[in-house]
Amino acid sequence: MKQYRVAIIGAGNIVNSHIDAIRSTGERLDLAAIADIDAERCKAICAAHNIPNYYTNATEMLNAVQPDLVHVITPTGTHFDLTLECLKAGAWVYCEKPLCASLAQFDQLAAAEARTGKYVSTVAQWRFGSAGQHLKRLIDAGELGRPMVGLCQTLWYRALPYYQVPWRGKWATETGGATVTLGIHLMDLFLWLFGDWSEVRAIAATIDRPIEVDNVSMALVNFESGALGNITTSAVSPRQESFLRLDFERATVECTALYRYTNQNWRFSTFDGSPFGDDLQHWQTIEQDTMGSHNEQLALLLDSMDRNERPSVSGAEARRILEFIASLYKAAFTGQAVQRGTIRADDPFYYAMNGASQPQEEA
Ligand SMILES: NC(=O)c1ccc[n+]([C@@H]2O[C@H](COP(=O)([O-])OP(=O)(O)OC[C@H]3O[C@@H](n4cnc5c(N)ncnc54)[C@H](O)[C@@H]3O)[C@@H](O)[C@H]2O)c1
Repeated sequence: MKQYRVAIIGAGNIVNSHIDAIRSTGERLDLAAIADIDAERCKAICAAHNIPNYYTNATEMLNAVQPDLVHVITPTGTHFDLTLECLKAGAWVYCEKPLCASLAQFDQLAAAEARTGKYVSTVAQWRFGSAGQHLKRLIDAGELGRPMVGLCQTLWYRALPYYQVPWRGKWATETGGATVTLGIHLMDLFLWLFGDWSEVRAIAATIDRPIEVDNVSMALVNFESGALGNITTSAVSPRQESFLRLDFERATVECTALYRYTNQNWRFSTFDGSPFGDDLQHWQTIEQDTMGSHNEQLALLLDSMDRNERPSVSGAEARRILEFIASLYKAAFTGQAVQRGTIRADDPFYYAMNGASQPQEEA
């Protein structure tokens, strides 16, 4: 068994999920250090989790520790620079969502992967629960028939204190609103399961809270297969729920959950008198019951490191959701339908989710 030296950059709210995931891999990872510009946070996390070293500067940490893998879990607007630096330092990166601020940044990270031979995988924990994996296998095997109609609803609630953290609520530092920060989880699962999208129409607005970014968006999506989708993301819904409903030719598959799911959250059904009624039992039988969490994704990332091959949710598998969200925002802010593949280097939405940035120097 290979053991890798891992370090974390960022000791904020999400750090415990990453430390749990690292510990769940047993001897495969040696958690050597944590870096955060806030020394008190570093000290507290080191003490609570028995981590030997902390740094208040990520560059110093990379030089001193020379990790094989780095978890980048800082505010979204910092992901790009830190991820690039980690790649240059010879580490693989497991970065929180959203991976970066724009398609332009994504393409620069892809170029850095090619130069360094190291890979970046972005967190997409909803794909990795056993029910999600099982459903993906059924769809890929064609068992459920063609996709027809999809509903993807992230109806969450974020009160004022959530936005009082200085980096939240601003395009420059959060890189977008509820659509890219919250809706990204279920949207990524939806697009991964339902196949290639072709066109999106959308509206987005800030309907409450003193913030710059959106807290509600609604999108209508055409898929290459002919299927149609409807996506709603909200951060102002008092009774919170995540709801995914996928209608295939032969069955309806639904997931009703909040931040995590187990098999219990999923339901398969079909129409009265369906000739596929007998298949329902088979479709609903899921061998394992693991939650979609960072743990499962990290274990698979280490398998990829062992084989030195591209990990899941990297490359095209990570670009898909960023391109879709950039297109959703462009559709919302221009009032025009946006086709997949049309946001390129001559388009302001290539450089920022609100279309407001200018091209930057290559990093
Ligand atoms: N996957 C999930 O379910 C999930 C849940 C919550 C947050 N997130 C993502 O995790 C990221 C962090 O969110 P959070 O809620 O933990 O944020 P947070 O504000 O609680 O913590 C961020 C930490 O990063 C530190 N930091 C800022 N800039 C730094 C730098 N340059 N170098 C080192 N440290 C730096 C801050 O001091 C702070 O301790 C965001 O991208 C967010 O979208 C993901």
